Amino acid sequence: MQKLIVKGKKNLTGVIKISGSKNATLPILAASILNDNRIELNNVPLVNDVFTMVKLLKHIGSNIKIDLKRKKIFIHNKNKIFETLAPYSLLKTMRAGVIVLGPLLSKFRVAKVSLPGGCAIGTRPVDIHLFGLKKLGARIKIKNGYILAEAKNGLIGTKIRLPSISVGATENVIIAASYAKGTTYIKNCACEPEILNLIDFLKSMGVKIVWLGKRYIKIVGNKDLKSLKHQIMFDRIEAGTFIIAGALTSKKLVVSKIVPKVIKKELKILKKMGVNLKIKKKHVTVFGTKNIKPISINTEPYPGFPTDLQAQIMVLMTKANGVSTIKENIFENRFMHVPELNRMGAKIKILGNKSFIFGPQELNGAEVMATDLRASVSLVLAGLIANNKTVINRVYHLDRGYEGLEKKIRKCKGSISRSN
Ligand code: UD1
Repeated sequence: MQKLIVKGKKNLTGVIKISGSKNATLPILAASILNDNRIELNNVPLVNDVFTMVKLLKHIGSNIKIDLKRKKIFIHNKNKIFETLAPYSLLKTMRAGVIVLGPLLSKFRVAKVSLPGGCAIGTRPVDIHLFGLKKLGARIKIKNGYILAEAKNGLIGTKIRLPSISVGATENVIIAASYAKGTTYIKNCACEPEILNLIDFLKSMGVKIVWLGKRYIKIVGNKDLKSLKHQIMFDRIEAGTFIIAGALTSKKLVVSKIVPKVIKKELKILKKMGVNLKIKKKHVTVFGTKNIKPISINTEPYPGFPTDLQAQIMVLMTKANGVSTIKENIFENRFMHVPELNRMGAKIKILGNKSFIFGPQELNGAEVMATDLRASVSLVLAGLIANNKTVINRVYHLDRGYEGLEKKIRKCKGSISRSN
């Protein structure tokens, strides 16, 4: 199994170009099932989750090509009959595969999709996805680890109030409603920037979607969809990760190809911690910061502070002058990086869904284990500031969601390498 070796105490300096968003690409690829005409996606991140979704689409009959050099995906389904089965083998490594349920069901009136595999950060059920699809008229059964869904007369627009805020369920229901007969109103939906990017994609395809309130949208279904080109938005979590890396290690690091106003909350919190930032329209310059102030944060659905950046900011908190706290409100088991950070010399205590980070602490290199995507990158950040060498096991988590991480760090004079 591959490992990453990070040598700490090197100043990162230069420009980091942020890639396209994995979490925007996955639902957009799922939504492509609805459309038989040509689709071109630009700024696609070359990460394993995207490759898995491409495999899944190929499996169900999609005519999809990925241009690695130009980071584009071309899809042209031409009325092909789809296989409406999404197998366990493809969903066990990537939970987001369940987003093909809505479009398959909406277009082909039947779908069999594996229940997603287990997940380190929490139980992550799909009940809200199924709730929304049932409201649209689907009959759903769970059998032998599969979701069996059917809508003999097609899905029909209706009024839905999602019982709690879920990014994936909102995406699944929006996509399904886009091809349903009539108009759907969804209340209590997630409004993450990736959902806005998905909505832009669906609108360019010819679906009428209007925001009626902050968490309230109207979708007028349309089966007559057209060709389109679409730009995948920047990866806001990768951007936040590198801005934190800059605060920890750099004299001056430019994080570019982003739209800073999308990450307003994160930038505000970093500023409160004393991080020296220069914010422009399409990039942020971050200067290394010696005097980091402690802070208390809660993870929340957008526009709150993202759970996907919790592990990374925790590393910055180990350098703050005092006690910081993080309350994790989204996933029940998302502090798996804490014991690993403590092994490197951090002093972090967990009480229920709250962690207390006692700073400042000097971190020392150690052999550590990555447990999920964002936990892995937090260990890379810790390795970058630690004394000596840090060895990170189970790198495959990182490869699911960070494009060219090592290359980007090396380009900015960080020391990171991979070994078998
Ligand atoms: C997405 C992101 C993930 C991010 C998360 C929260 C993708 C591919 N992944 O995951 O990176 O960390 O949003 O911002 O975009 N829940 C239920 N029932 C459901 C669905 C969700 O109880 O049917 C719960 C989950 O267990 C979790 C909470 O709702 O506690 C939020 O999860 P959700 O927003 O659905 O996350 P994902 O879409 O899986």
